[in-house]
Amino acid sequence: MEELKNEALAQIAQATTTAALKEVEVHWLGKKGLITERLKTLGTLAPEERKNAGRDLNILKNEIQTAIAERTVTVAASEIQQQAASLFIDTSMPGIRARSGHLHPLTMVTEQVVDVFERMGFFTLDYPEAESEFFNFDGLNIPSDHPARDTQDTFYLTDGNLLRTHTSPGQVRAMREFAPPFKAIFPGRVFRCEATDACHEHTFNQVEGIMIDRSVSVANLISSMMTLLSGVFGRQVVVRLRPGFFPFVEPGFELDIQCMVCGGSGCPVCKRSGWVELMPCGLIHPNVIRAGGLDPAEWEGWAFGLGLSRLVMMRYEIDDIRWLMSGDLRFVRQF
Ligand code: PHE
Repeated sequence: MEELKNEALAQIAQATTTAALKEVEVHWLGKKGLITERLKTLGTLAPEERKNAGRDLNILKNEIQTAIAERTVTVAASEIQQQAASLFIDTSMPGIRARSGHLHPLTMVTEQVVDVFERMGFFTLDYPEAESEFFNFDGLNIPSDHPARDTQDTFYLTDGNLLRTHTSPGQVRAMREFAPPFKAIFPGRVFRCEATDACHEHTFNQVEGIMIDRSVSVANLISSMMTLLSGVFGRQVVVRLRPGFFPFVEPGFELDIQCMVCGGSGCPVCKRSGWVELMPCGLIHPNVIRAGGLDPAEWEGWAFGLGLSRLVMMRYEIDDIRWLMSGDLRFVRQF
Protein backbone atom coordinates (compact mmCIF):
# COMPACT_ATOMS: atom_id res chain seq x y z
CA MET A 1 0.00 0.00 0.00
CA GLU A 2 2.75 2.42 0.93
CA GLU A 3 4.61 1.71 -2.29
CA LEU A 4 1.51 2.18 -4.39
CA LYS A 5 0.79 5.45 -2.63
CA ASN A 6 4.29 6.83 -3.23
CA GLU A 7 4.20 5.86 -6.86
CA ALA A 8 0.81 7.53 -7.37
CA LEU A 9 1.79 10.72 -5.56
CA ALA A 10 5.02 10.93 -7.53
CA GLN A 11 3.13 10.67 -10.83
CA ILE A 12 0.68 13.33 -9.69
CA ALA A 13 3.49 15.69 -8.73
CA GLN A 14 5.18 15.20 -12.10
CA ALA A 15 2.09 15.96 -14.15
CA THR A 16 2.28 19.56 -15.39
CA THR A 17 -0.85 19.79 -17.53
CA THR A 18 -4.52 19.04 -16.88
CA ALA A 19 -4.39 16.50 -19.70
CA ALA A 20 -1.47 14.65 -18.05
CA LEU A 21 -3.32 14.71 -14.72
CA LYS A 22 -6.34 13.19 -16.39
CA GLU A 23 -4.15 10.37 -17.68
CA VAL A 24 -2.82 9.69 -14.18
CA GLU A 25 -6.36 9.63 -12.86
CA VAL A 26 -7.42 7.10 -15.48
CA HIS A 27 -4.35 5.00 -14.80
CA TRP A 28 -5.20 4.70 -11.08
CA LEU A 29 -8.89 5.28 -10.65
CA GLY A 30 -10.41 4.66 -14.08
CA LYS A 31 -12.69 1.73 -14.89
CA LYS A 32 -9.62 -0.38 -15.60
CA GLY A 33 -7.32 1.54 -13.24
CA LEU A 34 -4.94 -0.14 -10.80
CA ILE A 35 -7.00 0.58 -7.67
CA THR A 36 -10.24 -0.41 -9.36
CA GLU A 37 -8.77 -3.71 -10.50
CA ARG A 38 -7.53 -4.47 -7.00
CA LEU A 39 -10.88 -3.67 -5.46
CA LYS A 40 -12.37 -6.24 -7.84
CA THR A 41 -10.04 -9.00 -6.59
CA LEU A 42 -11.03 -8.50 -2.92
CA GLY A 43 -13.50 -11.39 -3.19
CA THR A 44 -10.69 -13.90 -3.65
CA LEU A 45 -9.16 -13.06 -0.25
CA ALA A 46 -9.88 -14.67 3.09
CA PRO A 47 -12.58 -12.76 5.08
CA GLU A 48 -10.17 -11.23 7.64
CA GLU A 49 -7.68 -10.09 4.99
CA ARG A 50 -10.48 -8.85 2.79
CA LYS A 51 -11.68 -6.40 5.45
CA ASN A 52 -8.25 -4.81 5.98
CA ALA A 53 -7.32 -4.74 2.33
CA GLY A 54 -10.68 -3.19 1.45
CA ARG A 55 -10.30 -0.44 4.02
CA ASP A 56 -6.70 0.32 3.02
CA LEU A 57 -7.53 0.40 -0.67
CA ASN A 58 -10.40 2.83 -0.09
CA ILE A 59 -8.20 5.08 2.01
CA LEU A 60 -5.58 5.03 -0.73
CA LYS A 61 -8.23 5.76 -3.34
CA ASN A 62 -9.39 8.83 -1.38
CA GLU A 63 -5.84 10.05 -0.94
CA ILE A 64 -5.15 9.78 -4.66
CA GLN A 65 -8.41 11.56 -5.46
CA THR A 66 -7.60 14.40 -3.08
CA ALA A 67 -4.05 14.73 -4.41
CA ILE A 68 -5.29 14.89 -8.00
CA ALA A 69 -7.93 17.49 -7.13
CA GLU A 70 -5.37 19.69 -5.38
CA ARG A 71 -2.82 19.36 -8.14
CA THR A 72 -5.48 20.17 -10.76
CA VAL A 73 -6.11 23.55 -9.16
CA THR A 74 -2.43 24.51 -9.38
CA VAL A 75 -1.89 23.15 -12.88
CA ALA A 76 -5.05 24.79 -14.27
CA ALA A 77 -4.07 28.14 -12.79
CA SER A 78 -0.66 28.03 -14.43
CA GLU A 79 -2.18 26.97 -17.72
CA ILE A 80 -4.48 29.98 -17.69
CA GLN A 81 -1.54 32.23 -16.91
CA GLN A 82 0.42 30.85 -19.86
CA GLN A 83 -2.54 31.39 -22.14
CA ALA A 84 -3.04 34.93 -20.93
CA ALA A 85 0.62 35.68 -21.55
CA SER A 86 0.49 34.40 -25.13
CA LEU A 87 -2.80 36.24 -25.82
CA PHE A 88 -1.47 39.55 -24.64
CA ILE A 89 -3.60 42.43 -25.88
CA ASP A 90 -1.91 45.74 -26.38
CA THR A 91 -4.50 48.14 -25.00
CA SER A 92 -2.46 51.11 -26.16
CA MET A 93 -2.97 50.21 -29.85
CA PRO A 94 -5.35 52.48 -31.78
CA GLY A 95 -8.83 50.91 -32.24
CA ILE A 96 -10.88 50.36 -35.38
CA ARG A 97 -13.49 53.07 -35.73
CA ALA A 98 -17.04 51.77 -36.28
CA ARG A 99 -18.62 53.27 -39.38
CA SER A 100 -21.99 54.79 -38.66
CA GLY A 101 -24.68 53.62 -41.07
CA HIS A 102 -27.44 55.62 -42.71
CA LEU A 103 -30.74 55.08 -44.44
CA HIS A 104 -31.00 53.63 -47.92
CA PRO A 105 -31.86 56.25 -50.58
CA LEU A 106 -35.21 54.53 -51.14
CA THR A 107 -36.06 54.90 -47.47
CA MET A 108 -34.96 58.53 -47.44
CA VAL A 109 -37.13 59.44 -50.43
CA THR A 110 -40.08 57.42 -49.08
CA GLU A 111 -39.84 59.34 -45.82
CA GLN A 112 -39.71 62.63 -47.73
CA VAL A 113 -42.83 61.74 -49.72
CA VAL A 114 -44.64 60.59 -46.59
CA ASP A 115 -43.66 63.84 -44.90
CA VAL A 116 -44.96 66.03 -47.75
CA PHE A 117 -48.31 64.18 -47.78
CA GLU A 118 -48.72 64.09 -44.02
CA ARG A 119 -48.35 67.87 -44.00
CA MET A 120 -51.22 67.97 -46.52
CA GLY A 121 -53.39 65.95 -44.12
CA PHE A 122 -52.89 62.45 -45.52
CA PHE A 123 -52.32 59.52 -43.20
CA THR A 124 -49.99 56.63 -43.98
CA LEU A 125 -51.13 53.00 -44.18
CA ASP A 126 -49.33 49.69 -44.55
CA TYR A 127 -50.95 46.82 -46.46
CA PRO A 128 -49.88 43.21 -47.16
CA GLU A 129 -47.32 42.32 -49.82
CA ALA A 130 -48.89 38.87 -50.20
CA GLU A 131 -52.33 39.83 -51.46
CA SER A 132 -55.50 38.12 -52.66
CA GLU A 133 -56.57 38.17 -56.31
CA PHE A 134 -59.63 40.08 -55.21
CA PHE A 135 -57.82 43.11 -53.83
CA ASN A 136 -55.07 43.08 -56.47
CA PHE A 137 -57.41 42.61 -59.48
CA ASP A 138 -61.17 41.98 -59.18
CA GLY A 139 -61.87 44.75 -56.67
CA LEU A 140 -59.96 47.12 -58.96
CA ASN A 141 -62.31 46.48 -61.86
CA ILE A 142 -59.91 43.97 -63.45
CA PRO A 143 -61.97 40.74 -63.90
CA SER A 144 -60.10 37.50 -64.63
CA ASP A 145 -60.67 37.70 -68.39
CA HIS A 146 -59.56 41.33 -68.58
CA PRO A 147 -56.51 41.85 -70.82
CA ALA A 148 -55.04 44.26 -68.27
CA ARG A 149 -54.12 41.24 -66.14
CA ASP A 150 -51.62 40.21 -68.78
CA THR A 151 -49.84 43.54 -68.54
CA GLN A 152 -48.84 42.83 -64.96
CA ASP A 153 -46.62 39.79 -64.85
CA THR A 154 -47.81 38.31 -61.63
CA PHE A 155 -45.98 36.07 -59.19
CA TYR A 156 -48.64 33.64 -57.97
CA LEU A 157 -48.21 31.93 -54.61
CA THR A 158 -48.98 28.26 -54.01
CA ASP A 159 -51.79 29.15 -51.59
CA GLY A 160 -53.78 30.92 -54.33
CA ASN A 161 -52.70 34.40 -53.29
CA LEU A 162 -50.15 36.48 -55.16
CA LEU A 163 -47.42 39.04 -54.60
CA ARG A 164 -49.13 42.38 -55.15
CA THR A 165 -48.21 43.80 -58.54
CA HIS A 166 -48.99 47.35 -57.43
CA THR A 167 -49.99 49.26 -54.30
CA SER A 168 -53.51 49.82 -55.67
CA PRO A 169 -55.09 46.98 -53.60
CA GLY A 170 -54.81 49.50 -50.76
CA GLN A 171 -57.50 51.64 -52.44
CA VAL A 172 -60.21 49.06 -51.79
CA ARG A 173 -58.78 48.05 -48.43
CA ALA A 174 -58.66 51.68 -47.22
CA MET A 175 -62.23 52.41 -48.35
CA ARG A 176 -63.44 49.36 -46.47
CA GLU A 177 -61.44 50.28 -43.40
CA PHE A 178 -62.14 54.00 -42.99
CA ALA A 179 -65.22 56.14 -43.12
CA PRO A 180 -65.00 58.84 -45.84
CA PRO A 181 -64.03 61.56 -46.38
CA PHE A 182 -60.33 60.73 -45.95
CA LYS A 183 -56.92 61.10 -47.60
CA ALA A 184 -54.33 58.37 -47.30
CA ILE A 185 -51.09 57.11 -48.83
CA PHE A 186 -49.66 53.59 -48.73
CA PRO A 187 -46.01 53.13 -49.68
CA GLY A 188 -44.53 49.68 -50.18
CA ARG A 189 -42.83 47.07 -52.28
CA VAL A 190 -44.49 45.55 -55.33
CA PHE A 191 -43.44 42.58 -57.43
CA ARG A 192 -43.54 41.66 -61.11
CA CYS A 193 -42.10 38.72 -62.95
CA GLU A 194 -40.07 40.83 -65.37
CA ALA A 195 -36.82 40.48 -67.24
CA THR A 196 -34.57 42.96 -65.47
CA ASP A 197 -32.65 45.74 -67.17
CA ALA A 198 -31.59 49.32 -66.37
CA CYS A 199 -35.21 50.40 -65.88
CA HIS A 200 -36.98 47.18 -64.79
CA GLU A 201 -36.71 45.26 -61.54
CA HIS A 202 -38.80 42.34 -60.26
CA THR A 203 -39.14 44.15 -56.92
CA PHE A 204 -39.68 47.88 -56.80
CA ASN A 205 -41.35 50.50 -54.67
CA GLN A 206 -44.49 52.51 -55.18
CA VAL A 207 -46.51 54.87 -53.11
CA GLU A 208 -50.24 54.95 -53.72
CA GLY A 209 -52.33 57.90 -52.67
CA ILE A 210 -56.07 58.34 -52.59
CA MET A 211 -58.50 61.02 -51.61
CA ILE A 212 -62.16 60.15 -51.07
CA ASP A 213 -64.72 62.91 -50.70
CA ARG A 214 -68.16 63.97 -51.89
CA SER A 215 -66.69 65.91 -54.77
CA VAL A 216 -63.08 65.69 -55.99
CA SER A 217 -61.53 67.07 -59.16
CA VAL A 218 -58.66 66.42 -61.53
CA ALA A 219 -57.43 69.94 -60.74
CA ASN A 220 -57.11 68.96 -57.09
CA LEU A 221 -55.22 65.81 -58.06
CA ILE A 222 -52.76 67.75 -60.21
CA SER A 223 -52.13 70.36 -57.55
CA SER A 224 -51.36 67.65 -54.98
CA MET A 225 -48.93 66.03 -57.40
CA MET A 226 -47.14 69.34 -58.04
CA THR A 227 -46.82 69.98 -54.29
CA LEU A 228 -45.36 66.52 -53.85
CA LEU A 229 -42.80 66.87 -56.63
CA SER A 230 -41.53 70.29 -55.66
CA GLY A 231 -41.33 69.03 -52.05
CA VAL A 232 -39.16 66.09 -53.03
CA PHE A 233 -36.97 67.85 -55.59
CA GLY A 234 -36.75 71.16 -53.79
CA ARG A 235 -37.47 73.04 -57.02
CA GLN A 236 -40.09 73.41 -59.69
CA VAL A 237 -40.20 70.38 -62.00
CA VAL A 238 -41.48 70.13 -65.56
CA VAL A 239 -44.36 67.69 -65.97
CA ARG A 240 -46.80 66.72 -68.68
CA LEU A 241 -50.10 64.88 -68.51
CA ARG A 242 -51.15 62.28 -71.08
CA PRO A 243 -54.27 60.19 -71.20
CA GLY A 244 -53.56 56.73 -69.77
CA PHE A 245 -55.67 53.64 -69.39
CA PHE A 246 -56.09 51.77 -66.11
CA PRO A 247 -59.31 49.83 -65.43
CA PHE A 248 -59.60 51.34 -61.95
CA VAL A 249 -59.58 55.01 -62.97
CA GLU A 250 -61.77 57.02 -65.32
CA PRO A 251 -60.50 59.31 -66.67
CA GLY A 252 -56.92 58.02 -66.32
CA PHE A 253 -53.66 59.88 -66.89
CA GLU A 254 -49.95 59.35 -67.11
CA LEU A 255 -48.02 62.09 -65.40
CA ASP A 256 -44.55 62.33 -66.88
CA ILE A 257 -41.67 64.28 -65.44
CA GLN A 258 -38.89 65.72 -67.55
CA CYS A 259 -35.83 63.49 -67.09
CA MET A 260 -33.61 64.99 -64.43
CA VAL A 261 -30.68 62.73 -65.20
CA CYS A 262 -30.19 64.16 -68.71
CA GLY A 263 -32.32 67.30 -68.46
CA GLY A 264 -34.56 66.10 -71.27
CA SER A 265 -31.93 65.42 -73.92
CA GLY A 266 -32.21 61.61 -73.71
CA CYS A 267 -30.42 58.91 -71.66
CA PRO A 268 -30.93 55.25 -70.60
CA VAL A 269 -33.16 56.26 -67.67
CA CYS A 270 -35.71 58.01 -69.92
CA LYS A 271 -35.16 55.50 -72.74
CA ARG A 272 -33.77 58.44 -74.75
CA SER A 273 -37.15 60.21 -74.79
CA GLY A 274 -36.37 63.02 -72.35
CA TRP A 275 -39.44 62.08 -70.24
CA VAL A 276 -39.99 59.56 -67.48
CA GLU A 277 -43.37 58.05 -66.64
CA LEU A 278 -43.60 58.75 -62.95
CA MET A 279 -47.18 58.83 -61.82
CA PRO A 280 -50.19 57.18 -63.34
CA CYS A 281 -53.29 58.68 -61.80
CA GLY A 282 -56.95 59.42 -62.33
CA LEU A 283 -60.40 59.59 -60.84
CA ILE A 284 -61.37 56.34 -59.14
CA HIS A 285 -63.75 54.19 -61.22
CA PRO A 286 -67.29 53.84 -59.77
CA ASN A 287 -66.86 50.03 -59.69
CA VAL A 288 -63.86 50.43 -57.41
CA ILE A 289 -65.76 52.81 -55.12
CA ARG A 290 -68.46 50.12 -54.98
CA ALA A 291 -65.91 47.37 -54.23
CA GLY A 292 -64.76 49.58 -51.36
CA GLY A 293 -68.26 49.39 -49.92
CA LEU A 294 -69.21 52.97 -50.80
CA ASP A 295 -71.97 54.39 -52.99
CA PRO A 296 -70.45 56.00 -56.13
CA ALA A 297 -73.47 58.32 -56.30
CA GLU A 298 -72.36 59.78 -52.99
CA TRP A 299 -68.55 59.41 -52.97
CA GLU A 300 -65.81 60.21 -55.48
CA GLY A 301 -62.07 59.93 -55.32
CA TRP A 302 -58.79 60.31 -57.07
CA ALA A 303 -55.81 57.99 -56.93
CA PHE A 304 -52.21 58.01 -58.03
CA GLY A 305 -49.52 55.36 -58.04
CA LEU A 306 -46.08 56.88 -57.82
CA GLY A 307 -43.06 54.85 -58.88
CA LEU A 308 -40.79 55.44 -55.89
CA SER A 309 -37.85 53.63 -57.44
CA ARG A 310 -38.05 55.88 -60.50
CA LEU A 311 -38.36 58.93 -58.27
CA VAL A 312 -35.21 57.95 -56.37
CA MET A 313 -33.39 57.48 -59.67
CA MET A 314 -34.46 60.95 -60.81
CA ARG A 315 -33.66 62.53 -57.48
CA TYR A 316 -30.13 61.12 -57.26
CA GLU A 317 -29.40 60.69 -60.97
CA ILE A 318 -29.01 56.91 -60.77
CA ASP A 319 -28.91 55.38 -64.25
CA ASP A 320 -29.69 51.74 -63.40
CA ILE A 321 -32.60 50.62 -61.19
CA ARG A 322 -30.74 47.43 -60.24
CA TRP A 323 -28.37 49.41 -58.02
CA LEU A 324 -31.23 49.98 -55.58
CA MET A 325 -31.57 46.32 -54.61
CA SER A 326 -27.94 45.38 -55.19
CA GLY A 327 -26.88 45.57 -51.56
CA ASP A 328 -23.60 46.95 -52.88
CA LEU A 329 -22.12 49.17 -50.17
CA ARG A 330 -20.06 51.11 -52.70
CA PHE A 331 -23.41 52.32 -54.03
CA VAL A 332 -25.25 52.80 -50.74
CA ARG A 333 -22.42 54.74 -49.08
CA GLN A 334 -22.72 57.55 -51.63
CA PHE A 335 -25.90 58.88 -50.08
N1 PHE B 1 -51.46 50.62 -60.04
C1 PHE B 1 -51.04 51.15 -61.31
C2 PHE B 1 -49.77 50.46 -61.74
O1 PHE B 1 -48.97 50.07 -60.92
C3 PHE B 1 -50.79 52.62 -61.22
C4 PHE B 1 -51.97 53.48 -60.92
C5 PHE B 1 -52.30 53.80 -59.62
C6 PHE B 1 -52.74 54.02 -61.93
C7 PHE B 1 -53.38 54.61 -59.34
C8 PHE B 1 -53.80 54.82 -61.67
C9 PHE B 1 -54.12 55.13 -60.39
O2 PHE B 1 -49.52 50.26 -62.93
